[in-house]
Amino acid sequence: MVRFATKVLEKILGVLRRVESHSRVSSVARHYKEVIKSASTHDMVETPDEVYYGDQYWHWISKYLESKKAPREGVYADLGCGQGRLAMRLAKWLSQGGAVAGCDISEDAIGAARRYASDGGIDNISYEVSDTLNFLKSRPSNSLDGVLFTEVALVTPEYVDVLKEVKRVLRSSGLFFVSFRPQYFNLLYATYSDRWEDADKILSSRSGVLWGGDITYTWQTSGEVKKLFEDDLGMQLLNLVGIGCVSGIEGDPHEKLARPSRLDTDTRDKLMQLEIKLGEMMPDGGRYMLAIAKK
Ligand SMILES: C[S@@+](CC[C@H](N)C(=O)[O-])C[C@H]1O[C@@H](n2cnc3c(N)ncnc32)[C@H](O)[C@@H]1O
Repeated sequence: MVRFATKVLEKILGVLRRVESHSRVSSVARHYKEVIKSASTHDMVETPDEVYYGDQYWHWISKYLESKKAPREGVYADLGCGQGRLAMRLAKWLSQGGAVAGCDISEDAIGAARRYASDGGIDNISYEVSDTLNFLKSRPSNSLDGVLFTEVALVTPEYVDVLKEVKRVLRSSGLFFVSFRPQYFNLLYATYSDRWEDADKILSSRSGVLWGGDITYTWQTSGEVKKLFEDDLGMQLLNLVGIGCVSGIEGDPHEKLARPSRLDTDTRDKLMQLEIKLGEMMPDGGRYMLAIAKK
């Protein structure tokens, strides 16, 4: 009797394990389907607000490339490069011999990135359709002078593995630019959109499905990002700055304060100066937090 009951129990457990593993696989598939869909519908190169934030990222990236004397003839990577918003700025900054390798899981984004580069006469970027981790794992250690990973960690549940791989592939003194979604931004968004269950999740956890969709997001505080770099990764955090502390794109809670694309050039310049100052004062106040680190 006991043996029979044990056998039945084992069978039930086996079925439950298969159901659990199947539902995990299908939730991962739904995550990637949604991420790829949103990359195809939101163009980071042409959307006017995104041009402004591209310039704000580039302010910080170029400042550290220059001040840390990163080699202009070096080899760089842009992980989750989208349509090449930052890869193109970086490629133009490089001199003869310098090159950028960009990867993205969205075929549409990579197709657009290739077209933008070709239209702009940029021939020192190679693009490939690839998942970030696979792309990094195919690279030798100590082979890159710098890596960009902007606005991708928020949709990368395994982002800590990506960061560890980036450390491996960077040369000594190589620079890493990675942006994270601040916990505070998500709390503003939950309040703004009346999603109180999400607010509880955002307070108590650091990753999960939000906003009634299929994407698994990650979010952090500035203190956690500092600890991640200094204690867990053993990389020197040079700066941590907020991007877009008082402005936003359509749908952001910050949108009510200012939409860069709705401002005249003079006012937009003033907004940029203000956000650059604020960014250093309150990284958690940004739409994103940009960490600038050195191996
Ligand atoms: C908001 S866009 C940012 C694009 C670019 N980094 C920029 O700042 O303009 C996020 C991009 O990350 C890509 N992405 C998300 N998860 C990825 C993964 N696991 N591997 C490669 N690309 C990924 C998406 O397809 C999308 O193009």
